[in-house]
Parts: sequence; structure tokens; C-alpha cells
Amino acid sequence: MNTKHRHSGQSQGTPPPHGRTPHQKLRRTLRTALAAGLGVTLLSGCGSEQLITFGDMASGYNREVAFMSIFAIALSIIIFVGVSYALFFTVNKFREEKNTAEPAQFHGNNRLEIILVVVPVIIVMFLAILTVRSMAILNPVADTSTKIDVLGRQFWWNFSYPETKADAGGTVANGNEMIMPTRQDVALTITSGDVIHGFWAPNVGGQRAAMPATLKTWNVDTDRAGVYQGNCSQLCGGSHANMRYKVVALDQERYNTFLAAAKAYRAPEPAADSAEARGYAIFMQGKPATGALACAACHRVQGTPAAGAAGPDLSFFGTRRTLGAGMWEFMEAENQWETPRAKEILHEWLKHSPQVKPGSLMPTYDGSEYLAGGKKVKGGVLTDEELDDVAAYIRSLKLPEEANYWNDTPVYGSPDAAQNAPAKIAKTSSPTPGGNQ
Ligand code: CUA
Repeated sequence: MNTKHRHSGQSQGTPPPHGRTPHQKLRRTLRTALAAGLGVTLLSGCGSEQLITFGDMASGYNREVAFMSIFAIALSIIIFVGVSYALFFTVNKFREEKNTAEPAQFHGNNRLEIILVVVPVIIVMFLAILTVRSMAILNPVADTSTKIDVLGRQFWWNFSYPETKADAGGTVANGNEMIMPTRQDVALTITSGDVIHGFWAPNVGGQRAAMPATLKTWNVDTDRAGVYQGNCSQLCGGSHANMRYKVVALDQERYNTFLAAAKAYRAPEPAADSAEARGYAIFMQGKPATGALACAACHRVQGTPAAGAAGPDLSFFGTRRTLGAGMWEFMEAENQWETPRAKEILHEWLKHSPQVKPGSLMPTYDGSEYLAGGKKVKGGVLTDEELDDVAAYIRSLKLPEEANYWNDTPVYGSPDAAQNAPAKIAKTSSPTPGGNQ
């Protein structure tokens, strides 16, 4: 079933800049109230410039849930008011100083007892039908949906595209930044590699738990291109709060460009004697003389022999703007990785990531101790120059610029975006109801 344009009248259309009709004004006021009230925002942490926002009606999933909630909330209010009225009425009417005799009893009043049973049963059945109806609309996954596999691990995410085999071998994947198309159901299949995690990006739909040895599939969607914040929503260990990700929704054409470039991508070959070339050698082999382990044992880089699966996919690391599963962000429009702050943090991260992110399973490279399989071991040693060479190599792993999913994609929930976000709700291209085929 197709959910994407359900109740979509609520969020479509560009409000004219001047001379709004009363109806549009009301909608705008409602939207502002929603943002201020329902749309409570949570700071998503020390490093993040982006807030998690609720009540995003650009998602068909959220529209369906809101539609269902209107009835549930309305019924709750009616019941609350009714019960409160009955309570205060009774307490007032039968106050002891007014009534010394025992009040009339209705035990054995069949009519009243039947009403008291039947009315709640009808209410519960009505709510159950509403819920089942929404589930029947939201849960089915169409064959034509774009499919993304989600893997949660302590403390990062991998997003892979099972239908897109890379020309260089393996499946197209990205760590901690999920790219999805707009205006269609995107079927996510989630699992966990260790403990239970929770995928929660409320702008695109409902959350799901990532359970070890269990696959669960559900739909998310949004009508609006943008960068959205995602967080792990299940307490999963020391860096639960540092297990973030970005959802980048792109309009179909840009999404296709990304996917085609990702499919054709091969990691660039470093020029001889460059920092990148020295970094590549360490990345692939480590430095056995000092016990420094190879990055390639745990990370995949498409188009190289590096095919490790114990850590996030690094194929497009240089295109990403987050580090340490969103613990740090480099959202500047240009030269994100070239800024002194980014260089310094990346250096510290490579040098001893367990010291800058609790529970990180990466080895240390400054000879300090870290936990491996529950045991304390001593890390190998790379010099500061060698660490910078590795940093230079992974920074060079970039998608072609036309496939850079960050370019001009509005960031929702960041202080910069807050000002002009409503204008960007306007649709910028025609819907593609036929899916991505
Ligand atoms: Cu993973 Cu909390």
C-alpha cells in the first residue's frame, strides 16, 4: 500500500509571501504552535549543531500517526473531562455534612452495569480498529521500495544498499550517514551486531529496535529533501549518547546521482610518495614493528583490498561530515576536513579513540592501554606524522562532487536552518509516485 501522499494536503503547497488567506494564516499559526509545543526539541549533544525535532508532517508515516492520534487524544480528553466531572460532582453532592444517611445504592442495577461494560468495550474496540488500520497502511513493504539495510553496533551505524552492488565488488554502504530518496517509502531492514540499539530519526518516521540475530523491516519516508538528525534510542552502553547518525533525504534525481556514483566508486589511488600513499600503506598493513594494527582489518574501503566489517564502512569518509558516529560534526559548507579543529579532532581520534569516545572498540596508536575482547592490551605506536598520513588518506576517500549528498541540502534543526526552514518545506520538484524504478 502506498502511504506517501496520505493526508498530504496538510503539508503541501507553497504559502505565497504576501496576502495569505485566513486559512493559510491558521495553518501557519498551527504549524508554529506545533513546532513550539509538540515539536519539543532536544539538544542532541555536545558536538551536534542539530536538534531532533518532533511532529514533522513532511513524512507520510508521521501524518498517518498524527491522524490516528487525533482520535485517540480526542477520546482521552472526553473521558478525562467526563470522569473528572463525575468525580467532583459526586464528591460535592455527597459531602458528609450535607448527607448523614447512606446514599442510594445501585448494586444490582443491570442497565447501569451493562452501560459501564459496553461503553468502554466500544471505546477500546474503536481505538484498536484505528491502530490496526494504521498498521495495515504503514507496515506493508512494497517490492518497489528502495531498500536500505541498517546495522547498529556499539557505537556506530552502517547503512548498506543491498540492491546496489559496487562495480569494484561488495555492496554500496556508508557509515553513520544514511542517504535516502524523498517522496517514496524507503524500506529499512534493521539488525544489531551486539546488543539492542534503537533507530530513531523522528523526521522520517517511527523508531525500531535493532536486535541481534533478528531482522525487522519497516518503512520511513519524507516529502522534503534535507539533513535530519538520528540517535540511538535504546540504552546500549557507555557511548549510547554518542551513537548518532544523519539521515540525508535527496530528491530522486540527486539520489540517483549519488547511488550511481557510489556504485561506480573506487577509492582514489594515492600519488606516489604522497602523504596519502604513506597513509594507505599503514591503513592496509599497520606497522608491525610497533604492533600498530591495520585499519583494513576492521574497515571496508570500496575498490581496495580493505574489506573489514567490524567497524563502519569508510569508503566515502572524506565526503562525510561527521566523525565518531556523529560525536563530532564538521558542517561548514566548504573544506570541512581542512579546518584546524577537524584536523585536530581526527588526529586525536586516530591516536586513541577509546580515550575520546568511551567504549570505542578501536585500538589505540599511542601505546596506551585499551580493551580488546574484555582484556586490557597495549596499543601499537604510530608517530604524529604517520597518524596525519592515515588521516590524509581517509580524507581523500571522496565521492565525485556531483554526488556529494551534503551540497546545498538544508540541515533541519540546526540554528542556521531554523530561520529559513519553513520556506524550504515548499516542494521543489514534482512527486514521483512510481517509486524509484
Ligand atoms: Cu546504541 Cu544506544
